[in-house]
Amino acid sequence: MNKDDSDNNPGNLGLNLRHVEEYIRSIFGEDAKVTGIGELGALPDDTADLKGFGYGSPFAVHFETDNEADEQSIVISSMKESSFGHDHISDRAQIMLWQHDTFNRLPRHARSVDVGYFTKNGGLKSVGDAEEFFISMEMVKGKEYYLDLERIRDGGASELDFRRCRALASYLAEIHGRRADAPHLYFRRVRDLVGHGECIMGLADSYPGGLDFISWDELCEIEQLCVEWRWRLKLRPERLSVVHGDFHPWNVMFHNDTDTGFTVLDRSRGEYGEPADDVTSMSMNYILYSLNRHGRLEGDFKELFELFYRTYLDETSDHELLHVVQPFYAFRGLVVASPIWYPNLDRSIRDKLFNFIFNTLKADEFNPADVNEYLLKGRK
Ligand SMILES: Nc1ncnc2c1ncn2[C@@H]1O[C@H](COP(=O)(O)OP(=O)(O)O)[C@@H](O)[C@H]1O
Ligand SMILES: [Mg+2]
Repeated sequence: MNKDDSDNNPGNLGLNLRHVEEYIRSIFGEDAKVTGIGELGALPDDTADLKGFGYGSPFAVHFETDNEADEQSIVISSMKESSFGHDHISDRAQIMLWQHDTFNRLPRHARSVDVGYFTKNGGLKSVGDAEEFFISMEMVKGKEYYLDLERIRDGGASELDFRRCRALASYLAEIHGRRADAPHLYFRRVRDLVGHGECIMGLADSYPGGLDFISWDELCEIEQLCVEWRWRLKLRPERLSVVHGDFHPWNVMFHNDTDTGFTVLDRSRGEYGEPADDVTSMSMNYILYSLNRHGRLEGDFKELFELFYRTYLDETSDHELLHVVQPFYAFRGLVVASPIWYPNLDRSIRDKLFNFIFNTLKADEFNPADVNEYLLKGRK
């Protein structure tokens, strides 16, 4: 094998001997010398169908060090992108970080030596000593949007508040305008909406039993209704668009007190998804703050809610949205009705939020003008 001859290397990861040797030396000492590299367990092509699917292509690295008489060998294994929940690099990293963390605690399991990543130019870097990951980002100057909603709740909305509401809806109309053709990513998003720990099933699990405003039977019913919605949404993969993923008032920072300039934070759960995720995430908060203020959707919050929808629908003409928001409102409803996320909510508000969840899930077409009916009509 030539030192810099990357093309015909195993797994076509763009590896070369120099990179592998640098890595081996970084783990096993400066005296380590690579004696050979070879692909492991490669299957003849015609059996691939039998197996149906294989992840990644592990390869062996053989090397010698001064303090070991015998040649040593390790296996380096990575994963390919796939639609079995391995769509994103973070999915694949999650699995290998977990493997490195747990392999050595199971008797008779192959020992994990290290975990790391391949760089764009084929280098191998270790993150084996990682205790916890962090992200560092620019510092945004401004105030979170929820502070506006608290001011509106206590003192009414100003003309600026209506301009800001329009600006938020226009921002979503702009980003959602960028669609993508990758049905597996739309399926992933709809699957995560129902089954992800941060979404419907995870939230349902955060509700203890024996609550007086929602029972586990009702939570199960919500999940069942959402599973049905999941299969209805799967018929619309062409809706896949650029999304934020957690577009709520704590993740939007307005730069100053006088205009509509803002920066968003905390993008979540994938670059592409269903636009309804963002529309419901923000509009749910106009409903929540109005319930806190009026016990129903009324006054300035009703105007803001309807302005938000009107602006978004005018700029996108996406009336199909009203046929897909339902399970996303179930998700956001479970967040705001949660005794964990919102411990100080009045019991009557939680009741109305669960009415809203059930009545919305049972509506083929969501009507922004019927929110009070969804809130106030009993779910039994
Ligand atoms: N880049 C930033 N600039 C300014 N404030 C930030 C920034 N990132 C986070 N914050 C503040 O920290 C809060 C929580 O951060 P966030 O990333 O949204 O984490 P979480 O996942 O806990 O919601 C934000 O609501 C905001 O007040
Ligand atoms: Mg946040």
